[in-house]
Amino acid sequence: MRVKKNGNIEEITALWMEDKNVVFIDQRLLPHKLEMFVAKSTSEVAYAISDMVVRGAPAIGAAAACGLAQAAMLGQDLEAAAKELGATRPTAYDLFYALDWTKERLQGGMDPLEAARKYIEITVERCFQIGLNGSPLIKDGAKVLTHCNAGALATVDYGTALAPMRIARDQGKSLFVWVDETRPRLQGANLTAWELFQEDIPHSVIADNAAGHFMRLGEVDLCIVGTDRVAANGDFANKIGTYEKAVLAKENEIPFYVAAPVSTVDFSLTSGDDIPIEERSQDEVSMVMGIRVMPEGSNARNPAFDVTPARYVTGFITEKGVFRPDQLGKLEVID
Ligand code: MRU
Repeated sequence: MRVKKNGNIEEITALWMEDKNVVFIDQRLLPHKLEMFVAKSTSEVAYAISDMVVRGAPAIGAAAACGLAQAAMLGQDLEAAAKELGATRPTAYDLFYALDWTKERLQGGMDPLEAARKYIEITVERCFQIGLNGSPLIKDGAKVLTHCNAGALATVDYGTALAPMRIARDQGKSLFVWVDETRPRLQGANLTAWELFQEDIPHSVIADNAAGHFMRLGEVDLCIVGTDRVAANGDFANKIGTYEKAVLAKENEIPFYVAAPVSTVDFSLTSGDDIPIEERSQDEVSMVMGIRVMPEGSNARNPAFDVTPARYVTGFITEKGVFRPDQLGKLEVID
């Protein structure tokens, strides 16, 4: 991804391997500081995932692949490392896909550093292809709404939902992005807006409850979001608040697309009812910038994701093409 630094443009990815260390952009500090977090052990990689130094399904998968490769380099027990990494966040299917993929390669004798770098390379290629496949959906002058952050930060590079926008811009189209702020952790305001600013893609951040207003006014041409897990019937989980955006889009006859690589599709689940939904600390809701915003005696609930039924999805933008929910079975996993 492009980053503006001291008047220059630099290219950087959300994470990478450096010898035996896994290096992450510390996403907890954006948009104010661009600093790296260096994980030197399995528990530091697990901490980086659960504390959301790194987040977004494909990036969580890549972090887990690197963490397992690191454990192999350090001569640790692979099963124990996979168990620790797998216990970090329950919803993103890429985490489990990546652990299985990497374990298989390591047990087959692949060099650990090569396995980690290969997983990263495949992830980035898939996202680039999602961008190519999704860009025709963005017409010149389109206004696109997105929720949470499904950009390069969430996927190592390019993004899922943001990849078609990046490619459309590179193809010379003009576009405008509505960015839901995404309470409680503000991934839209902090991360998506930061990425779009770095890329000079015009955008406005809106409060989460403003999306319906702009849809009704005809100010949204299409929605593109990412996902953490897709069930075989096309129901999908994504950041809390996605479901209501999809319902609003249908009500306003606005196409609603979900961008994801095959590593996010869990064919073992027949419906979205079976997707495990992470519930995070209530402090993320009760506190804003370190200040409590509700009475001491009140409780909060903090589901991190919701499930949107397949009937609200116009299409899944994948590296293999754009599919209706009932066509998802065509995405066989080959690697
Ligand atoms: O809790 P997060 O920030 O990990 O949630 C991220 C999302 O919900 C993204 O939309 C999803 O992982 C798709 S990322 C390409």
